[in-house]
Amino acid sequence: MRRAGPADLDDLMALEARCFSAADGLFNRRQLRYQLASPRCAWFVAGRFEGAACLLLASNGRDRWGRLYSLAVDPAHRNKGIAKRLLATSFAWFQEQGVQVMRAEVKSTNLAARRLYADLGFVEHEELPNYYGLGTSGIKLYRRM
Ligand SMILES: CC(C)(COP(=O)(O)OP(=O)(O)OC[C@H]1O[C@@H](n2cnc3c(N)ncnc32)[C@H](O)[C@@H]1OP(=O)(O)O)[C@@H](O)C(=O)NCCC(=O)NCCS
Repeated sequence: MRRAGPADLDDLMALEARCFSAADGLFNRRQLRYQLASPRCAWFVAGRFEGAACLLLASNGRDRWGRLYSLAVDPAHRNKGIAKRLLATSFAWFQEQGVQVMRAEVKSTNLAARRLYADLGFVEHEELPNYYGLGTSGIKLYRRM
């Protein structure tokens, strides 16, 4: 597990394309380049791009929180505990940054991710109708660090 940098742009784009369809909302090159350079963002990569997680530090002036912005494991490497390891690394990074609450969103139909998050202490607290497009709801989650 290691933190990615600007030189990982192409490999991260390729991993995202293996894990998500265009309808899921893939990051484009410009967004990824910005994320890799931003001090408020961290990408962590497992192995040789077997999986990756994108984390953001967010605030609204008064409150600070961490956001899980993307989590993806290559279909060829699923069910081997990689997502759990990426999330353990994410928790450690947020704790280092003084973050006390981590937030995430998930498609309500994504049962694998919902179970993963529940296993790791996330609480589902709000439904987001049409969050992923018309007729596809999301669920807002949080986890105290
Ligand atoms: C969801 C995803 C990240 C899981 O990655 P993974 O490395 O296979 O997950 P892990 O091996 O660490 O599994 C951890 C837990 O996730 C849950 N899980 C994973 N796959 C599952 C499945 N197919 N069905 C039900 N639960 C599942 C289980 O709780 C599992 O714990 P267990 O092994 O003790 O049963 C992966 O399937 C993925 O990249 N999917 C496409 C992208 C995506 O949906 N990202 C999350 C969007 S918010």
